[in-house]
Amino acid sequence: MKIKTIILAAGQGTRMKSKKAKVLHEIAGKSMLRRVVETSQVLQSEIIVVYGHDGEQVKQSLGDLSISWVEQAEQLGTGHAVQQAISQVGSNDTVLILYGDVPLIRSDTLSKMIEALSDESLSLLTVKLDNPAGYGRIKRSSGTVEKIVEQKDANETDLAINEVNTGIMAVNGGVLATWLSALKNNNGQNEYYLTDVIEMAVKQGVSINTFHPHDAFEVEGVNSKAQLNTLERYYQRQQAQALMEAGVTLADKDRIDIRGDLTITGEDVSIDVNNVFEGSVSLGDGVEVGPNCVIKNATVGANTVIKANSVLEDCILGNDVSVGPFARIRPGTVLANNTHVGNFVEIKKTHVGEGSKISHLSYIGDAEVGKGVNIGAGTITCNYDGVNKFKTTIEDGAFIGSGTQLVAPVTIGADATLGAGTTLSKDAPKDALTVTRAKQITLKGWKKPTKE
Ligand code: UD1
Ligand code: CA
Repeated sequence: MKIKTIILAAGQGTRMKSKKAKVLHEIAGKSMLRRVVETSQVLQSEIIVVYGHDGEQVKQSLGDLSISWVEQAEQLGTGHAVQQAISQVGSNDTVLILYGDVPLIRSDTLSKMIEALSDESLSLLTVKLDNPAGYGRIKRSSGTVEKIVEQKDANETDLAINEVNTGIMAVNGGVLATWLSALKNNNGQNEYYLTDVIEMAVKQGVSINTFHPHDAFEVEGVNSKAQLNTLERYYQRQQAQALMEAGVTLADKDRIDIRGDLTITGEDVSIDVNNVFEGSVSLGDGVEVGPNCVIKNATVGANTVIKANSVLEDCILGNDVSVGPFARIRPGTVLANNTHVGNFVEIKKTHVGEGSKISHLSYIGDAEVGKGVNIGAGTITCNYDGVNKFKTTIEDGAFIGSGTQLVAPVTIGADATLGAGTTLSKDAPKDALTVTRAKQITLKGWKKPTKE
């Protein structure tokens, strides 16, 4: 038995008011359709996506995933959409129907539905809503599901039913194919309703087993920016909850955004307000993140402190490191244990050795900084001549005076000292003071200019 997931994604999404296809809008940094595809992958299913007029854009965006693409040129209803894909389904396959704009469906909900499935049953995901308006209603007789009535075809008794169809179902591929071929569009919307297969199933003695999501957000669809944001906030709150359960102290559970995977590898991690985590970030024991930081693809060692307003990307920080406030750590940077990077410092593609300090207003790029180095305020590695990039090497124990320019390629030897204001264009030998500085003069009797 194979599982084939058919994801319906042909809807236009005009209410999003965007050039971007609806299903490509993102929840927590990942497109809705990609989320649904990844959830389907957990179930080891083969994935078929039914796309509409935004096809090229959608295919391109998910080009890295293994998907069979099926076009639904005209949107004639959910039943018609599934019909477009049914030729790819074998009669012994299990078909799971999902929606590209219902992004937060959980794989454990779906696997329950699939496990319960037999040749004589269909699994349907339903939910009870305080306000069922707009949804298809689940009509039961003495507890058993009889059919689904769409809002536009419902009478007053039907409209009072608060159990609604989520649209998500699991069913045997062979019977589904026969039911689909019998669908008619003589209804309030002149559409081929997928929901009509429920009544056909019941007539054929197939029992409808209903399942429920953990909560309604899981099956909520997105048609507008407001709904997109509702799900984004719900998802972020869930992640914040999970962090707190893992022992993380959050200054405000509603002011943290995780757009990727945040892994906590220790205890007593604390995160202040307005932090954004992107990609894959891991925080070790006792890490403190100050307010307003953006941290993307970073590994942060134990007891390291990232102070307010720092931006970090593709970097590794050791233990007991201090970064910021207002620091920018760019890709390829490694800060070893006990290093200190202060305010208005930018570091790119540089390894900074244990115990070294770059405390104020510096740019260090394409460099190798040894252990116990002190880099004074306003130090700049001149790593780029407009065409090529060059490396700066600063050996262990060197002391770089303030306001120096290191014109790469250049090496500063171990325990060397550079005088403040030096423009270093040749290597500086170890253990010595190197300084380039014009002689200081004072002009006696000099007068300030006067207004003409
Ligand atoms: C559908 C269900 C309804 C259910 C509701 C849940 C039917 C007939 N009705 O209603 O019972 O309560 O979903 O949200 O199935 N789509 C296509 N091609 C089409 C039509 C739709 O790909 O021709 C896709 C849409 O992109 C969307 C999904 O199917 O992702 C649902 O379509 P939509 O028009 O929103 O369904 P409803 O009429 O709201
Ligand atoms: Ca519709």
